[in-house]
Amino acid sequence: MRPHERIFVAIDTPDMARARSIADQVRRHVGGIKLGMEFHNTNGPDGVREIAGDTPLFLDLKYHDIPNTVAGAVRSAVTACRPKIINIHASGGPAMMRAAVAANREAADRIGIAPPLMIAVTVLTSIDDSDLEAVGQASPSGDQVKRLALLAQAAGCDGVVCSPHEIADVHAACGDGFTLVVPGIRPADAAEDDQKRKMTPAAAVSAGADYIVIGRPITQAADPAAAAKAIAESLS
Ligand code: C5P
Repeated sequence: MRPHERIFVAIDTPDMARARSIADQVRRHVGGIKLGMEFHNTNGPDGVREIAGDTPLFLDLKYHDIPNTVAGAVRSAVTACRPKIINIHASGGPAMMRAAVAANREAADRIGIAPPLMIAVTVLTSIDDSDLEAVGQASPSGDQVKRLALLAQAAGCDGVVCSPHEIADVHAACGDGFTLVVPGIRPADAAEDDQKRKMTPAAAVSAGADYIVIGRPITQAADPAAAAKAIAESLS
């Protein structure tokens, strides 16, 4: 994989024109575009397809429901949006993850595309040990991340989302070939914001991130194309 192909730009806006403008500025400099609930719930799959165009798409809708419903959601999403990466919550459990994996392959086969990477969200980075305890889950969160990553791998998922500081542990637990998608990335000169456990793009990739998800340092830069290009160059 070439260095810039590791970068997915998170375009978090409900505004079609703004999303189109950012996507068009950055798409040649990065590996893909991430669109999530905020964009999808306003503009639907047609809007998602329009923004992605030929650029690889990470469809970040994080499904979590009963297996039959998640399988249906995955089939619809793959058929309508043709993503390169799609995701579910590992905490939905083994049966839900297996159903998602099977639906992903069936839907991709039916429309003749390579199956999207099925990536499981482990523990959201906004959740700390006291939140985990409040919902009756085991803490510390690092152990829970590893546990869910192994469960996702056993269910046939292609990889997980994890924070930069969990890369080494998840990599050690799940081995090479298990894809790590990593948000919480900040270039060294980036503004302070709500990402607390952050790492630079180059550090995350050398720690073992396969894909890095970067939003505001690119989308809110005065020149998003230049920001994306500089980050790609920092990976070379
Ligand atoms: O702007 P920023 O670079 O913080 O955007 C990061 C993107 O990654 C956002 O779309 C956010 O929702 C997503 N994300 C995250 N932490 C997670 C999972 C997803 O920041 N644990």
